[in-house]
Amino acid sequence: MAEFTVLATAEEVAEAAAAEIADALRGGARSLVLAGGTTPKRCYELLSELDVEWGRVAVLFGDERCVPPDHPDSNYRMAKETLLDRVMPATIYRIPAELGPEEGADEYAEVVANVAPLDFVLLGVGEDGHIGSLFPGHPALHADGLTIGIHDSPKPPPERVTITLDAIRDAGLVMILATGKGKADAVAMARRGESPSGMIASARWLIDRAAAGQ
Ligand code: 6PG
Repeated sequence: MAEFTVLATAEEVAEAAAAEIADALRGGARSLVLAGGTTPKRCYELLSELDVEWGRVAVLFGDERCVPPDHPDSNYRMAKETLLDRVMPATIYRIPAELGPEEGADEYAEVVANVAPLDFVLLGVGEDGHIGSLFPGHPALHADGLTIGIHDSPKPPPERVTITLDAIRDAGLVMILATGKGKADAVAMARRGESPSGMIASARWLIDRAAAGQ
């Protein structure tokens, strides 16, 4: 069963997430899959200040928008500015989504296959309950393999590359962050086992009171 920890504020969620990621990396996790969106930004900044042997860590991404890596919408760019420019991981495997959904997904599938099973996967959640770029009711939820290209994301931009539910479920630890009242419906759905984010039975959720509906 997914486990939900409710903290008072978004700042406390970021602090707890950064501390747990650092603990996992100190405890032997060698691959860290980063989330996109805006929620994890503060967590990444705090994580960059913690004591971690980054030289033993491979960094991957859960999803990417089909834009160049220096584009304002790039998930890689967000992680680079908040974390990766400040630490020195052994390897950074960004998703080459600028190649387009199919080619980007095919190339990244090889990367994930070489690293899998993933040790630590961090995810955000959308207001509709999506994780990565896996949206409610989308055929990609049933995809075989480790990655899939998306052409019709309801959240812009429409073209994306994402790891699959299978790749996420196979991971050693999956942490999902949700903050703010806009995420309260998504959290409620996940608690009922509904929506993509409710389909990860082993997920550890860190949420603030607003996202918990309190
Ligand atoms: C993306 C994502 C996506 C994101 C959620 C939450 O590329 O858009 O990786 O799954 O994590 O939509 O986004 P926010 O943190 O911005 O609310």
